[in-house]
Amino acid sequence: MIDWSREERYKPIEEVSKEELNELENAVKKCPFRQGYHIQPITGLLNDPNGFSFYNGEYHLFYQWFPRGPVHGLKYWYHTSSKDLVSWEDHGIGINPGDWFDSHGAFSGSGIVHDNKLHLLYTGNTRDENWIRTPYQCLAIMDDKNRVKKHSEPVINGVPEGYTDHFRDPKVFKKGDEFYAVIGAQNTDLKGRVVYYKSKDLINWDFVNEINTSLKDFGFMWECPDYIELDNKGILIFSPQGLEQEGDKYANIYQSGYIVGKPIDLSSGEFNHGEFIELDNGFDFYAPQTTEDLNGRRILVGWMGLPEIEYPTDKNGWAHCLTLPRELTLVNNKLIQNPVKELDELRENHRYIESMINGEERSFDGFDGERYELSCTFKDFSEGKVGVKLRVSENEETVVYYDVDNKKFTLDRSKSGEVFATEWGTTRSTSLDCKELSLQIFVDSSSVEIFVNGGEKVFTSRIFPDKNSTGIRFLSTEKCSIKAHMWSIK
Ligand code: FRU
Repeated sequence: MIDWSREERYKPIEEVSKEELNELENAVKKCPFRQGYHIQPITGLLNDPNGFSFYNGEYHLFYQWFPRGPVHGLKYWYHTSSKDLVSWEDHGIGINPGDWFDSHGAFSGSGIVHDNKLHLLYTGNTRDENWIRTPYQCLAIMDDKNRVKKHSEPVINGVPEGYTDHFRDPKVFKKGDEFYAVIGAQNTDLKGRVVYYKSKDLINWDFVNEINTSLKDFGFMWECPDYIELDNKGILIFSPQGLEQEGDKYANIYQSGYIVGKPIDLSSGEFNHGEFIELDNGFDFYAPQTTEDLNGRRILVGWMGLPEIEYPTDKNGWAHCLTLPRELTLVNNKLIQNPVKELDELRENHRYIESMINGEERSFDGFDGERYELSCTFKDFSEGKVGVKLRVSENEETVVYYDVDNKKFTLDRSKSGEVFATEWGTTRSTSLDCKELSLQIFVDSSSVEIFVNGGEKVFTSRIFPDKNSTGIRFLSTEKCSIKAHMWSIK
């Protein structure tokens, strides 16, 4: 086992021995929790999705990568691409850190197509001999052969007055003939903020302002901002750190959510918006990023993990995966998230049942598995609890249910298999008011993604059950009728 001293964490991959990498690959291969259809690292740690874009006939999706183990160290951008958002091809390292402006990591950032090339704007993390951090915003340009070349110097140097060295994660967008980049920041009062810059050529950037939200005291740092417009509304997505839990809200170590209002006035930064809404109510979701495809669809991918938490795969030398891509739409000022249509391609071996359940748990022939999509509706209930248990065996189960009386939807992973992060609780809930319940559920070897009532709420979570925990049981403490479709996943 490596002792993760500072020196080890920041050692570049070229200096790592073949033996170490072989050993690591073998440990990863032996892991029972490798995913079947999610983007996951070949070894080491994956975190934020980066540079998500459509370029040269394909989606490109990079992610933060520390190759050598399940810890945060020298970060690379790892490059993947896909024609259909379903099967992804690995291309290896996309951005290699190590220049003076990214000596301690190529941190998160985004992509935009300009002059037929994919322009990647990212944060160069640097530390001096006293471990003082200076962040630089840097540019790397990828051509149609997937060759990435860094600009010779940073495009934004250091930090503007009034902010600390927590200043990172540029997300670029174009409005009119101007490029803008929102950047996650902490002000010198140690409050999270988003600032933005503008540019005509992606090389020369001018600071414009802070985005003036009403959330003046809302955590100590806002990471990974993203600004999009849908249906003439402006939506600022960001990942605030340091919120206290309030009832069912903000139950994870860090949060991810959005605020909606009239589009931001980009000359002043004024933003009149509604309340902060969490994007996902599950246990493992952070630092999402969106892109727009050629048809104007807005697609989001998140990191299915969180910082500072140990996961059961750590002992096998790897950690985390990305979520499935979700399409975003705006309804009544709320984001609705649904798995992209293309994911239907994964389906095989269709099964279907219709039944009544009355004060019982029921399983059905053919309804079981380790990796599958399950789409079910519950009707004609008026009290009690209705729901479904996934990955069931004698000792394990992952339970999702709607508590009709208390109008609450809950995911319970207390018996999901290997337990972890229990100091953050073993259930997640959110209020929900419905007469019928529909669930579209994607189960992979070590995750669940649950889309509730057509994407009104989403619960994304890692679970670590035994391979043989494959049962599915529908439950209703009173009377209810169910219909369920199920597909195995290739
Ligand atoms: C979010 C984050 C970003 C940073 C990156 C480093 O998870 O902390 O703010 O750029 O991870 O890997």
